[in-house]
Amino acid sequence: MICIDGPAGAGKGVVAGDLAGRLGWRHLDSGALYRTVALALLRGGLMDADESRIEAYLRECRFEFNAAVEGEGNRVLLNGADLSAEIRAENVGVAASRIASLSVVRRFLLARQRRFRRMPGLVAEGRDMASVVFPDAPLRIYLHASLEKRAERRHKQLKQKGINASMGDLIRDLAERDRRDRDRPLAPLKRARQAEVLDTTALTVLETRDAAWRLVTAVWPGMAAG
Ligand code: DC
Repeated sequence: MICIDGPAGAGKGVVAGDLAGRLGWRHLDSGALYRTVALALLRGGLMDADESRIEAYLRECRFEFNAAVEGEGNRVLLNGADLSAEIRAENVGVAASRIASLSVVRRFLLARQRRFRRMPGLVAEGRDMASVVFPDAPLRIYLHASLEKRAERRHKQLKQKGINASMGDLIRDLAERDRRDRDRPLAPLKRARQAEVLDTTALTVLETRDAAWRLVTAVWPGMAAG
């Protein structure tokens, strides 16, 4: 079991997908689950509703969270409709960060995240994987990068999808998201106890993958040959 936590745009998805692929383990992108709940609440007009209404609504919805396909994040369905692409929109990320502070939402997703833990292993990425969801994970990685670098990466990603976002807006949105994810009282983003810190600001994707793999082989030396 490996947990990878860190702020938006630090490279968690790339590292988690790569490690899961190399190890033949499952990959949980917990952000995709928060995004799906956020999209459900956006569609239901319930973003600002009180927690009891949200709880009742979430119970009525049919969520399906499937294991991640390499490089694509988890496949998520709401009432039978595949929303895996829709949840990637920036506004859904912002909404996810907002509803992630609600205890009703975190409670709703806790057991659903833990269900991903099966043999032979799981690589889970998010904000509170090591601190709350899988506190006994033998390898915990805290991945981060400077705000500017993360905005630059997000800009490039969006450009590849044909979306032209301004760097100023991206920096502002990420800073706001960081603040919300770090300052909330419930399961805030933070470096968990005994987490290995990996700063990816000056690293290429390849260097980041190699550094993460070295952390894996330090914990499980037998993996080095594989
Ligand atoms: O990783 P992401 O950007 O897709 O996540 C979207 C939001 O979901 C993030 O800003 C905060 C929330 N989230 C969370 O609170 N806890 C997690 N384990 C994962 C995501």
